[in-house]
Amino acid sequence: MTDAALLTRIETRPMHEADLEAGYALSKALSWPHRLEDWQFMFSVGEGRVALNPTGEIIGTIMWWRYGEGHASLGMVIVADAWQGHGIGKRLMVEARNALPGVVIHLNATPTGVPLYEKMGFRPCGIVEQRQSNAAAQPLIALPVGVRLRPAGQNDLEAIVACDTQACGMNRRRLIMALLSLAKGVIVDDGGKVAGYAFCRKFGWGMVVGPVMATRTDYAAAMIAYWIGSHAGQFMRLDIPQDCGLSHWLDEIGLLRVDAVAAMSTSGGNADVGPMQRFALCSQAFG
Ligand SMILES: CC(C)(COP(=O)(O)OP(=O)(O)OC[C@H]1O[C@@H](n2cnc3c(N)ncnc32)[C@H](O)[C@@H]1OP(=O)(O)O)[C@@H](O)C(=O)NCCC(=O)NCCS
Repeated sequence: MTDAALLTRIETRPMHEADLEAGYALSKALSWPHRLEDWQFMFSVGEGRVALNPTGEIIGTIMWWRYGEGHASLGMVIVADAWQGHGIGKRLMVEARNALPGVVIHLNATPTGVPLYEKMGFRPCGIVEQRQSNAAAQPLIALPVGVRLRPAGQNDLEAIVACDTQACGMNRRRLIMALLSLAKGVIVDDGGKVAGYAFCRKFGWGMVVGPVMATRTDYAAAMIAYWIGSHAGQFMRLDIPQDCGLSHWLDEIGLLRVDAVAAMSTSGGNADVGPMQRFALCSQAFG
């Protein structure tokens, strides 16, 4: 059967909550670490589409998250092994792009995904390192006089959204609101001003630290050291922009680079603005 004939027998439709088990099975087959709960969290703040084979089984997924009017992140692009190479991934990408007219789309691409995304007009704009290990006990990092770490609470929503928007150039309010409920957060408080924030939450095989945004590298390191120190012995993961300045220190404390993905976007660049910098992603899918 030609690809064109096969594609006419593949149905695609919006993703529903009831599809998440099947999505989870697809990512598990790839040895991706996501739990069903991770799929549920992603779906609670985003949307997606699925592809079904002629017997109605889900054989492909794609998800995206709208950040304000002009930006979105895209991820969980999976086509089951047996169905790859017939144009299903491309069809899901076209449908996602059609759902996001005029929107700059960001993603983090596995080496397998890069050729598809290049064909869809995405351009590389950086490298994201996946770092993980069982965390060793960490000494706290001293902050300058007048600067302290404190827990983040619901009252910090606006300040965190402002930091995040400054660091990524897009409004991720919905995601931040969800993280404030699901995750634990800390803030670098500089004389009453928020100079950085970092969330830590359950994800995959353990805990993930991210997003981490701060005005200074030592502020970011202090927040990361805090989260790692409070989970000694547990599996910890961070996804960091390669050029964020933390790689050497993370090597020293044993959070080793185990993989890397290509950051890509339809604008061919990162949207970062202002003095706030991104030190860790929320996840590869969320950006
Ligand atoms: C990446 C993935 C979704 C592609 O899905 P797919 O259905 O096999 O892709 P398609 O058949 O639609 O291919 C789309 C285009 O990309 C090209 N392409 C796909 N995989 C390729 C590869 N490994 N090398 C070169 N080109 C490739 C195809 O030739 C096609 O181009 P064309 O339309 O000009 O012929 C699929 O390989 C997959 O699920 N991989 C594992 C999960 C993963 O890594 N996902 C990406 C996460 S960022």
